[in-house]
Amino acid sequence: MTNVQHETPQQAERGAPVEAWDVIAARYDEHVAPGESDLALAGLQLAGVRKGDTFLDVAAGTGGLSLPAARLGAKVLATDWAPRMIEHFTARAAAEGLDAEGRVMDCHRLDIPDDTYDVTGSQFGVMLVPDQATALREMVRVTKPGGRVFLTAYGNPGEFEALHFFVTAVQAVAPGFEGPSADEPMLEFQVADPDVLRRRLTDAGLKDVTVDTSHQERIQVRTGRQLWDWCLGGNPIPGALVADFTDAQHEDMIRVLDRMIRERSTDKGPAVLTAPLNIGVGTK
Ligand SMILES: C[S@@+](CC[C@H](N)C(=O)[O-])C[C@H]1O[C@@H](n2cnc3c(N)ncnc32)[C@H](O)[C@@H]1O
Repeated sequence: MTNVQHETPQQAERGAPVEAWDVIAARYDEHVAPGESDLALAGLQLAGVRKGDTFLDVAAGTGGLSLPAARLGAKVLATDWAPRMIEHFTARAAAEGLDAEGRVMDCHRLDIPDDTYDVTGSQFGVMLVPDQATALREMVRVTKPGGRVFLTAYGNPGEFEALHFFVTAVQAVAPGFEGPSADEPMLEFQVADPDVLRRRLTDAGLKDVTVDTSHQERIQVRTGRQLWDWCLGGNPIPGALVADFTDAQHEDMIRVLDRMIRERSTDKGPAVLTAPLNIGVGTK
């Protein structure tokens, strides 16, 4: 689980299918995206997004990055291949009266003309796709010359606390459970090494590439069930890993998480679980 490796031909066949992302879209919208505002602002600020800029969000989900960008005053197009994700995004943007549109699109083939956007970004999206080189080249292609492109991705999986809490809770109930296979490194961590991220952004045609490693994701939870929802709502993999266990076993796992969260919590505050981030930015 803790391997950080380069893309191999086998990885091109992996990655959750679009239907699996559609299935978790409502949970993503409720339990994951709302907690992402601070890290979204970190990426938007590093890329210099300002009021009036045109901003393209690639693999946007339900708007964890797009909604904060639109609140800054950018004109936003949020794209994702999963129609349910875009439906949730569109509803949120409309409820807030934001200048933002959502469109269903595969990041490997953006249906957008060359040189269109001031800034193009992807947060936890292009990070995990099988053909990342093609997706990054697409992000660069649709960005205006002199515009910026950024990618927000997880750093070292060994320091991803929510993932370790989840695996520990499953193992407490099912001692034989090994977690994600170490033989098949997760695509989610393909640019966990900042040097790999820097190289991939440069290879995609960007210049003046920097990778900021000073930011963290901070997941705030008060109960085991909240963390369970965050894990199963954030990515199809955790749900697939526990799909063969019974409902009663799931409840036992949630009780273990509850204990772990209580031990971590301070007085009346929530537990804060962190994960390291790499935010890579370059100029076209
Ligand atoms: C972990 S979510 C991140 C969502 C959002 N960017 C955020 O920060 O909350 C990953 C997203 O990537 C989308 N995705 C995965 N493969 C994709 C592809 N080939 N083209 C477009 N979107 C894709 C999924 O549907 C999902 O919404």
